[in-house]
Amino acid sequence: MEKRNQLYEGKAKKVYETDAQGLLIVSYKDDATAFNGLKKGTISGKGIINNRMSNILMQRLEKGGIPTHFVEELNERETVVRRVSIVPLEVIVRNIAAGSFSQRYGVVEGEVFASPTIEFSYKNDELGDPLINDYHAIALKLATVEELETIKRYAFAVNEQLKSFWKDCGVTLVDFKLEFGRLGNGTIVLADEISPDTCRLWDSRTGEKLDKDRFRRDLGGVEDAYAEVMKRLTEHL
Ligand code: TMP
Repeated sequence: MEKRNQLYEGKAKKVYETDAQGLLIVSYKDDATAFNGLKKGTISGKGIINNRMSNILMQRLEKGGIPTHFVEELNERETVVRRVSIVPLEVIVRNIAAGSFSQRYGVVEGEVFASPTIEFSYKNDELGDPLINDYHAIALKLATVEELETIKRYAFAVNEQLKSFWKDCGVTLVDFKLEFGRLGNGTIVLADEISPDTCRLWDSRTGEKLDKDRFRRDLGGVEDAYAEVMKRLTEHL
């Protein structure tokens, strides 16, 4: 397959057209941003880890019955994915209070929920990705009622599977963000990435943060944390 013109450059990835109908190539960068791009930096080797990790997890989820955009890993940083139109919602599932949830509701970080939660943010950088509810999303035609039902069902199923994969690695899945897309025929599939950029991952024994919060909060040891979770995942393949 041949890479053609660049379609889009995001904060952490570039997307290219290809000579194959319905297929794109994503290329993972080491660039890191936080707080809607206000904080910028580089996490050396991150693109390689995120590419590999996301592909491993997406392939496992496919086996578990979740349709994804994954097609084929090309090299360290590049993957072939199915072309989708992204549903402009960030789908956030949480098992334990942290981050914006803790701030918004005054809940101490680490409080384990009675049951997992889901929330949506409207993907819109100018507005700072504001929280949005189902009715708003439907009113704004961001997704249909049926699509939201599918997305919620998949998101909770992804949570159960990811929680179990990570548990085997001695890692607690605190929360994560997913994005979904529509194929040409309207089918909803899991898209974007699943990585330490988009998940909170805590060492199950020590509680140490092994994800992008080390960058967001200037905790140091960012590269080591990414390498550590990647190592644990590959040791439990
Ligand atoms: P939050 O607590 O800041 O709302 O983040 C919830 C989860 O979503 C956390 O695992 C980090 C992830 N996330 C992203 O992947 N992209 C984003 O832009 C934000 C704000 C959070």
